[in-house]
Amino acid sequence: MKVTKAVIPAAGLGTRVLPASKAVPKEMLNIVDKPAIQYLVEECARSGITDILIITNRGKGVIEDHFDYSFELEQNLKKDEKKAKLFESVHAVADLANIYYIRQKETKGLGHAILTAENFVGSDPFAILYGDDIILTDEGVKPVTAQLIDVFEESGKCVCGVKECSEEQVMKYCTLDVTPLSSNVYDVHRIIEKPKKEDILSYFSILGRNVVTPDVFDLIRNTKPCEKTGEVYFSEALSAYAEKNRLAAVDFSGTRFDMGDKLGIMQANCEAALRHPEIGEAFRQYLKDLAKKL
Ligand code: UTP
Repeated sequence: MKVTKAVIPAAGLGTRVLPASKAVPKEMLNIVDKPAIQYLVEECARSGITDILIITNRGKGVIEDHFDYSFELEQNLKKDEKKAKLFESVHAVADLANIYYIRQKETKGLGHAILTAENFVGSDPFAILYGDDIILTDEGVKPVTAQLIDVFEESGKCVCGVKECSEEQVMKYCTLDVTPLSSNVYDVHRIIEKPKKEDILSYFSILGRNVVTPDVFDLIRNTKPCEKTGEVYFSEALSAYAEKNRLAAVDFSGTRFDMGDKLGIMQANCEAALRHPEIGEAFRQYLKDLAKKL
């Protein structure tokens, strides 16, 4: 089964990065010269995804504008030969993939958001990329979504992307009970969302990427919302896959940045700036000079 569809949940509140996310969705916050969500759509396109559903909510219409042609701006850029490259880069954003939108009408958690994708997905397997998790890969390395698709196709199991995290992060995200299948692929037996310290199963946490099949929607429907927050945790639906021996974890190659977190935003910008063909060298020099002053 070829994976050509992806779902990007981007309907969270972004409270951790207020006031920046008050009027601008956190998915539209800048990383050097592109909004965060463009990195995700580019990752999809480079992974063979042709159709993407972005799950939004009120106030996020600007995401739709970004992935549309911008007639007036493009006409202006076109007039000036010197701006041909700029025109291309602006125009091409709208042609990265077929992009569809749906609104999650109430903010009831990631699992609840993913349920809105059921009609879009139909009977196809699909990738999920969390709207605020940006993963940069080195040149020559496959994008993370493609790394997960490879394991999905080889193993026939659903797949989650994982990395070893600090204890503090594991307690904020989730913990996985795993046994190794190869150097970077694991069988997953169980997942606990936001574990207490004494419940930590391993330091592996899911970081923003999954490839699943449409039966995930029944698993989400069977997941009880958290008593405290009312949110439907997606990792609990994934744990149901794991308990049926149907989930693999890939310790992916790439660096992940949390755009829902102030430090994550700064780290993403620094790394992307260092890799940027136009400003990379100048930025590296700037950091060296800055380090002398610290
Ligand atoms: P987060 O856990 O970061 O939630 O969501 P959040 O609400 O955006 O952030 P804070 O805690 O208020 O700062 C992880 C991903 O799931 C999406 C978010 O947009 C983000 O991409 N999400 C979360 C939804 O689409 N809907 C939800 O109800 C919750």
